[in-house]
Amino acid sequence: MYDVQAIRKDFPVLERVVYLDNASTSQTPKPAVEAMNEYFFRYAGNYGRGAHRLAQQTTEHYEAARETVADFFTSEPGNVIFTKNTTESINIVAHGQDWTPGDHVITSMIEHHSNYLPWVALRARGVVLDLVEANQEGIVDPSTIETAITDRTKLITLSHVSNVFGSVQDIHRIVKIGRKNDVPVLIDAAQSAGHMDLSVKDLKCDYLAVPGHKGLLGPQGTGILILRNPEELRPTTLGGGAVEWVRGCEYELLEPPARFEAGTPNIPGVIGLGRSVEYVSALGVANVEKHVVMLARVAAQKLAEIDNVTVYGPKNRAAVVPFNVGELNPHDVSMILDETSKICTRSGYHCAMPALQSLGINGTVRASFGAYNTAEEVDLLAGSVSLIATSLV
Ligand code: ALA
Repeated sequence: MYDVQAIRKDFPVLERVVYLDNASTSQTPKPAVEAMNEYFFRYAGNYGRGAHRLAQQTTEHYEAARETVADFFTSEPGNVIFTKNTTESINIVAHGQDWTPGDHVITSMIEHHSNYLPWVALRARGVVLDLVEANQEGIVDPSTIETAITDRTKLITLSHVSNVFGSVQDIHRIVKIGRKNDVPVLIDAAQSAGHMDLSVKDLKCDYLAVPGHKGLLGPQGTGILILRNPEELRPTTLGGGAVEWVRGCEYELLEPPARFEAGTPNIPGVIGLGRSVEYVSALGVANVEKHVVMLARVAAQKLAEIDNVTVYGPKNRAAVVPFNVGELNPHDVSMILDETSKICTRSGYHCAMPALQSLGINGTVRASFGAYNTAEEVDLLAGSVSLIATSLV
């Protein structure tokens, strides 16, 4: 049985607030924080460097985290790179390959800036960018992607779940379209990893960009990039820990993944992330998905029943519920929710301005759910929004 009250005991901060900003960043469970404390208090050393016992122990724990993550996504440790966030993961793909003028990239109008601006910037190098549209509920029709493919298309890149709408894209179909046309596909799993089953063995995407600090409940400053063919990308950062040897101006890169992790990495973060991934595995991703989707859909329904409240996104949404109260500024609504009920939501453009522009609005309030939220918190949100709607609109 999914015992949410037992789960909440691992997140002491939840005694202080109603935390509904999980699409932005999640809380981290005690076992993961304890794993980081253990690193600092018992064996902190550098990773991959040094023969002494602390360096050895650190390297073992870091690599154990990589194995845990690889298993979780049904990948192999050699295909898993640790990064600082999803944004860095996507930028490694954008800058780790050669582009020639006329190369073509397909993404959507509703992407988070992190899966939008790296491709916009490539236009300065002659890359042609196709921004396919989503419908008003934030769903991209895969056939529009297929139609957009040309003989110069070098990448299709799309978010699995929209951080603005909560809509879920048919990524299996989109990856199939990519494979059929010999076009690599990047999936931005920022809002789905940890909430939805993601097996790269089944999905067969070329790149999976993942945050450590959202559905996987890891610490901030951690991210993952899973590469199907790591040899096909160039590292975007060079330095210590990434090379086999250097002689004069010659050097040889280490095998992946080390070549992609130059410099001292976020060692405590990665160790904490490994532990939080074990935690999510023990909860069961299917259980988490059922729970967060149920909360989000009930929340959307209750909010939509309130006069003057507009809810955006599809009925079959993931864990994200965007809404507005009359003409009120979303930041004001979010502040009132915090001041009156200690409810933490995000407000504004959600780092996805073109997505909001496609709806013709200047922002929303966004409630987003995590493994530890409850039905009572949904009721509190609906009650508090209702009070705002009746007293201020
Ligand atoms: N990507 C995060 C969000 O949508 C920060 O809130």
